[in-house]
Amino acid sequence: MSSIWVLKLKLREKLREDIEEYLISLNATVTSIDAENNTNSLKPKIFKVSAFFTKKPKNYLIQFILINYKVNPNRVFLKKVSIEDIYKKYSQPLQPINIGPFKYSENKNKENFLIKKNIIIPAGLGFGSGHHASTQGIIILIYKIFLKKNIKNKKIIDIGCGSGILGITMAKLWKKKIELIDIDKHSVITSKENAKLNYLNSLIKAKKGNSLKRTNEFKYDIIVMNILANTIMDNIYLINKKLNKNGRVILSGILKHQKFMILNKLRSLGLILELEYINDNWITLLIKK
Ligand SMILES: C[S@@+](CC[C@H](N)C(=O)[O-])C[C@H]1O[C@@H](n2cnc3c(N)ncnc32)[C@H](O)[C@@H]1O
Repeated sequence: MSSIWVLKLKLREKLREDIEEYLISLNATVTSIDAENNTNSLKPKIFKVSAFFTKKPKNYLIQFILINYKVNPNRVFLKKVSIEDIYKKYSQPLQPINIGPFKYSENKNKENFLIKKNIIIPAGLGFGSGHHASTQGIIILIYKIFLKKNIKNKKIIDIGCGSGILGITMAKLWKKKIELIDIDKHSVITSKENAKLNYLNSLIKAKKGNSLKRTNEFKYDIIVMNILANTIMDNIYLINKKLNKNGRVILSGILKHQKFMILNKLRSLGLILELEYINDNWITLLIKK
């Protein structure tokens, strides 16, 4: 097989899942990314959906999408592409990105690699390359806490570790053991691999789990959590229970309009907002107990 057929569509969230299911039922392999930023973001307004077929799909199967889901035909394209072109197009590396004192990149460029500055996060199965606003917000606030030097002892946990990017960043800064938890086993494996790549495997302790339900320590001084707002809401009592007095929790994955919903619940437990960081439509909250 030297070529395949790619069906490209631009879809709003409302229709996306149904149409993706339909395409998968036709044996297509489907990927969806944020159409506006051309990246994987948490809540895109419009998705760019690509469905890959080994044989040309019949016209009536595509017309079914146009008629049944009332999709604008100008938003649907079918073309034949060579496998070689696909590899070239879809293996473009992400540009390195500077956040706080660190430079995050996919590969180790041996000539420029400085152990103090560079963090390597290859494209993999865990979310978190540093390019999403919610990850950037947390890293910036982690660095602010680090500079203040006013948290003692430092038992630290990263909930929803994805690629391990936040745990690895904190291990670099504090040179302490960091506990990482994710509900998804691939994220746990990826975090461990990325810890090794960054020479931090002795400090990164990653395991599978649901939020703060089963942790190694009873209480923490720093909790970081980049998870969607609803999951944060469900876990606020647990966060309060597991946070030491004077401890900090950094919450991200929150859209600007969800800020007060979260803050009200935190305030009702006596947790106070110390700092916030807004980036794009996303907000990151630094909370003190
Ligand atoms: C937005 S990603 C954050 C990844 C990375 N920490 C970052 O900041 O870029 C959210 C991660 O949380 C994980 N997750 C979702 N719900 C969870 C839960 N209840 N407990 C633990 N992890 C969860 C997902 O599997 C995903 O890896």
